[in-house]
Amino acid sequence: MQQDYWLKAWDENRTGFHQDQANKRLKRFWPKLGLAAGAEVFVPLAGKTLDMLWLHEQGYRVFGVELSRKAVEAFFAENKLAHTTHKTDRGTEFRGSAAAAGLRVLAGDFFDLAPVDLEGITGVYDRASLIAMDESMRAEYTRQLAKLVPRSARGLLLTIDYDPSRMQGPPFAVPDATTRLLLEEGFEIEELERYAGPERLGNLKGRGLDTLVEYVYRLTRR
Ligand SMILES: C[S@@+](CC[C@H](N)C(=O)[O-])C[C@H]1O[C@@H](n2cnc3c(N)ncnc32)[C@H](O)[C@@H]1O
Repeated sequence: MQQDYWLKAWDENRTGFHQDQANKRLKRFWPKLGLAAGAEVFVPLAGKTLDMLWLHEQGYRVFGVELSRKAVEAFFAENKLAHTTHKTDRGTEFRGSAAAAGLRVLAGDFFDLAPVDLEGITGVYDRASLIAMDESMRAEYTRQLAKLVPRSARGLLLTIDYDPSRMQGPPFAVPDATTRLLLEEGFEIEELERYAGPERLGNLKGRGLDTLVEYVYRLTRR
C-alpha cells in the first residue's frame, strides 16, 4: 500500500485495524521470548497501537515508527503520556517523559530509516505491518526490516491468511510459505501457533470471508 492510502485512512478515521486493548497473542507469547526487561523493542508501522504501551508497562523500552503524525499524536494524547517532540533527519520523534520515559515513536517513513537508527534494539514486534503491505511492497518491507534489525534481535510476527479471491486487502493474506520465503534470509522463523476458524474474523466480518487463519511466529535475526 502506498503512503497516500494510509495518510488518507488516518485523516478519514478509517482505522478498523486498531485494537482497543493490547493484543492477546502479544501478551501470551512475548514472555516466552525471554527478552530481558529494559531491552528496546522496535515496532514498525506502529499506528497508535496499545501494544507499545503494554510492552512499556512490562519494563521494555519501545521505538515505534509510524507514517501518520496524526496517529502518533493520538497515541500520546489518548494515553495521556507526557512527551517532548524533536525534529530529526527522519521525521519528528515523540519522546515519552516522566512515567512514559523509554517510549518513543517517530512520525516518519519506515523506508527512510537506516541501521544506525536501530542501534541497541534487541526486540521486534510486527502486528498488522507485513500484512499491511500489498504484494508489490512486501519484499521491500522484509528486506528493509532485515537491514534495520540488529543481529540476534528477536521478537514476534503476527500474520493472517485467507482466500484472496473473496476479499481485497488490506489486511493482505500472506500464506505461511510466502512469509518464510520473504523472511528466511534475514531471520530464523518458527511458528509458535496458528488459529483458524470463523471466530477469528473479528473486524473483518462482513467483508466476504467465511474463515481466516492467524499465525504467530517467533523471529530471530540471523
Ligand atoms: C494496518 S496498520 C497497523 C498499525 C499497528 N501495527 C496496529 O497493530 O494497530 C498499518 C500502519 O502502517 C502505517 N504505515 C504504512 N506505511 C508506512 C511507512 N512506510 N512507514 C511508517 N508507517 C507506515 C500506516 O499509517 C498504518 O498506521
